[in-house]
Amino acid sequence: MAKAAEFHPAVVPPHAASAFTGGSGFYPVLELYGYIWAWYGNPEQADSLLIPHIPFVPLEGSLPGYTQRTVRFDASSALSVENLIDLTHADFLHANTIGDGISQSDEVTVEWTSETVTRTRTVTQKSVAPIMRWIGGVRAKFQDFRAVLHVHLRSNVCISYPRFRPGYDVPNVQPFLPVGRYRSRCDVTFNTTAAPVPFRYLMPRINYIIQPQDNSVVRPQNQRYFENTGRRDLHSRFDKPGTRYRFQMEQLMARQLRGDMAYGADAEPGRHIGQLLGMDDLSSRPLSSRPGQVTNRQTG
Ligand SMILES: [Fe+2]
Repeated sequence: MAKAAEFHPAVVPPHAASAFTGGSGFYPVLELYGYIWAWYGNPEQADSLLIPHIPFVPLEGSLPGYTQRTVRFDASSALSVENLIDLTHADFLHANTIGDGISQSDEVTVEWTSETVTRTRTVTQKSVAPIMRWIGGVRAKFQDFRAVLHVHLRSNVCISYPRFRPGYDVPNVQPFLPVGRYRSRCDVTFNTTAAPVPFRYLMPRINYIIQPQDNSVVRPQNQRYFENTGRRDLHSRFDKPGTRYRFQMEQLMARQLRGDMAYGADAEPGRHIGQLLGMDDLSSRPLSSRPGQVTNRQTG
């Protein structure tokens, strides 16, 4: 049974425990989706319905070990999340694995609540992701791509649902944990269990290639993230989802600084998001295990 303690469990100083644990020294914890969720707030308000819904991971977290990896970002967790939100960065930074920026159409939309930001990118006839060609058996030159990223602002839990056609779904969870101001840790789950071998096993390891690429751009930006100088970082105001993320984070912070720690009335972190992620989209049902099969869907 997992425990999250303010102090070493064997030596809890009886009068030192804070209000965050109701004086007990222990945070309320729950195991779900293969993760341990700790409640860092008034223990009386702890509610399992506030845990983000992750529709593609079994509640008991019973996925094979190859789906899980730990990656470390050389940036604060918020900046690491911003990097993830800006999916267009993949077109040049990860072009050698995920694919370049060539496509017929490319649309990015964003929606939000006081607790979440959701970014959807829809691309038609994109150059096929090299990794799908090498190890995924996809023979087509172009593929349609839809990627939904659902970010929980308070917890930095990012739920991502990329769908490639022809190709596969690569649903993944990326919960960013702050490790000081300069580092964050992410225990990712890639549910590739429905994809064919060897893609199924190798795709979750893609971080070994793309992580140094991400770190090479976030590392030099991190310091400027804290300094309130003229130009703080390389952020673009034309990046709507990223700008919205910052704005929503500032709103949340302002609310908390006023002493209001409650979840907004519009926010249901635990609400079912299968539809939001496009998982149930009938027009792009997962292909059977026949890689390289060309769909007849018209684009443009
Ligand atoms: Fe990246």
